[in-house]
Amino acid sequence: MKPLKIISTGAYIPERVVTNDDLSKMVDTSDAWIRERTGIRERHIAADDECTSILGAKALEDACRRADMAPGDLDAIIVGTSTPDAIFPSTACWLEHTLGLSGTPAFDVMAGCSGFLYGLEVAAGLLASGAARRVGLVGAECMSRVVDWTDRRTCVLFGDGAGAAIVEPGDGSTGVLASNWGSDGTLAEILCVPAGGAREPASEKTLEDRRHFVQMEGSRVFIHAVKAMSRSVRDALEAAGLSGADVDVFIPHQANLRIMDATRERTGIPADRVFSVLDRYGNISAASVPVAIHEAREQGVLKDGDILALTAFGTGLTWAGAVLRV
Ligand code: ACO
Repeated sequence: MKPLKIISTGAYIPERVVTNDDLSKMVDTSDAWIRERTGIRERHIAADDECTSILGAKALEDACRRADMAPGDLDAIIVGTSTPDAIFPSTACWLEHTLGLSGTPAFDVMAGCSGFLYGLEVAAGLLASGAARRVGLVGAECMSRVVDWTDRRTCVLFGDGAGAAIVEPGDGSTGVLASNWGSDGTLAEILCVPAGGAREPASEKTLEDRRHFVQMEGSRVFIHAVKAMSRSVRDALEAAGLSGADVDVFIPHQANLRIMDATRERTGIPADRVFSVLDRYGNISAASVPVAIHEAREQGVLKDGDILALTAFGTGLTWAGAVLRV
């Protein structure tokens, strides 16, 4: 086991709600289609003066407040995001800028929706090596800024938000029982924002062709998501010597209810163990797992001593799975 204690969690969800009916006035879609195909009812969208680092800073402040500490007490800050504030510096540094922090190592993990679980793997390593004793781990996204609001195939799926967790080595009774992570760069093109970076620099042409927005082959992503997430959970459970029935709370990445259901069915985890925030927030990418963990703790669904199974999948393609005793 990798000893680790989640001493606190926090979240920040922007105020503005956009319902499926609101979207049906913008593109050719309907509440019925979106609910039936995705399970999403509504999503929250950041205000004009908010961006990824600001959402992340608010979530981290919330987690720090609950742990009775200040962000300056952290030894390292990791931000998982696929919607960075800018090409550089990192969103983690912009987050520090927002909080007026100086001196704490801060960096991003870009692994799409798997960003929080990739960050957890990194944080566990930092704690194990002694490089840090207290890590602030954030998943934050402003998906609304990279979604094409004229494309009904993608704009109905995403939302904005941030979640955070503060992790310490703990006393050895809690931690990551087993975990795995992976990626397949040969599938990078099936879910990407093609332009705006060094590969395809911004130009009038890229703007005209709308290549600064999310492009996705939805059905291929769906198939890979189910395969990768179910395999990662099964592998982590097997490595931990547990079965699906041992899981108290299961939090898969929340992209689509059908993906979540199909994943769970392949893991043997009972249906009543799944915790979801998807219907209210949509796919908030790297923020979905930490926001769900936070809400599960707040609602008393996730309790000390529980076995928590996590899995995620995202652009890259990337995936990760972890089984923890919390
Ligand atoms: N409203 C109404 N109709 C729509 C909409 C919409 N919002 N979107 C697509 N349609 C239409 C299509 O145009 C198509 O019409 P056609 O048959 O006339 O061509 C029809 O609905 C069926 O389209 P499909 O793409 O086959 O629908 P599907 O059942 O596959 O659902 C969906 C689409 C929801 C996108 C699904 O493929 C999916 O969830 N894929 C995974 C997406 C995902 O999770 N992405 C995020 C990954 S995580 C990350 O890292 C960001």
